Amino acid sequence: MEISAHGKLNLTLDVLRRREDGYHDLRMIMQSVELCDTITLQPAAESGIQVTTNLSFLPADGRNLAAIAAERFRSAAGKGPEGLAIQIYKRIPVCAGMGGGSSDAAAVLRALNELTGAGLSPEELARLGQSVGSDVPYCVLGGTALAEGRGEVLTPLPPLPDCRIVLCKPRFSISTPELFSRICCGKIRCRPDTAGVIAALEAGDLTGVARRLYNVFEDVLPVRLAGEITAIKQTMQGCGALGAAMSGTGPTVFGLFARERGAEQAAELLRRTYSEVFLTRPYNLV
Ligand code: C5P
Repeated sequence: MEISAHGKLNLTLDVLRRREDGYHDLRMIMQSVELCDTITLQPAAESGIQVTTNLSFLPADGRNLAAIAAERFRSAAGKGPEGLAIQIYKRIPVCAGMGGGSSDAAAVLRALNELTGAGLSPEELARLGQSVGSDVPYCVLGGTALAEGRGEVLTPLPPLPDCRIVLCKPRFSISTPELFSRICCGKIRCRPDTAGVIAALEAGDLTGVARRLYNVFEDVLPVRLAGEITAIKQTMQGCGALGAAMSGTGPTVFGLFARERGAEQAAELLRRTYSEVFLTRPYNLV
C-alpha cells in the first residue's frame, strides 16, 4: 500500500501558557501543502517493524516516528501484520518545522487502519497519534485547522485559497525543547491575530491571511538566526510575496504568492544561497 504524507505550515503560532505536565498550551492555524513524503507499507516475512528511507542519516529503527506509530497501532487495535516493512521516500525537509516526521506517523496510522480493517474513528486515530507526537493528531486530519491545547484540540477551518508557496530551509537547526524553553509566556510582545486569520479564511481572502502570518518563536530566536530568517522573508517580499513567516519551531520560512512568476523569482534567488528551496501549493481536503 502506498500513501502520501503531506507537509504542514503554521499560518499562525501562539504559545499561551506553560502547563503542569511540561508541555505548552498552543493556538495555531495549520495548513497542509502539496509537498509530501511517500510511504509504502508491506507485510514482511520477518516479524517486527523495519523502516527504510532514502536519507541515510534518519533513524531506521524503533526511534523513527513511523515505527513508533505502527507499534502503538498494533497494541491499541490488537491487529496488524506480525512483520511490517515501512519504506519512506522523504521530500519534506527534515527537522524543519514542517511536521514531516509527524505526517509520516499519521500516514502509517491511517494506512494500518485501512489495511487491517480495524475501523478506528479519526478521533481514535488522533488520540493514538498524540502519544507519538503533539503534531500527529493534526496530521491525521490534515487540511486547514485550528489546533489548540498541546496541538490535539482540532477545529477544521475553510481552506487557504489556492496560491503559490515558496519554502526555504536555512542550514541551522534549533531543537524544539530549546526553543520552547526560550519562550516566556508572560513576556511575549506580539501575538498573532488568530481571529483575523480565521475571518480572512472564511472570506476566502488570501491577502488578509498573508498579511497576518505570525509565529511567536521568531521573536525568541538567537539574534544571528533571527537575522537570517528576516533576510529570507525580505527576499520573498521583494519578489511579491503577500506575506512570509517561519513555520513551527523552524527553521523553514515560507512565503505566500498570488503569482507564479514572483514565486519562481524568489525560489531562483534563494537557491543561490540555500540548497533546500521548494515551490508548492496548499493541499486542501475536497
Ligand atoms: O510532542 P512532541 O514530541 O512533538 O514535543 C516535542 C517537545 O516540544 C516537547 O518535549 C516539549 O518540550 C515541546 N512541546 C511543548 N508543548 C507542546 C508541544 C511540544 O512544550 N504543545
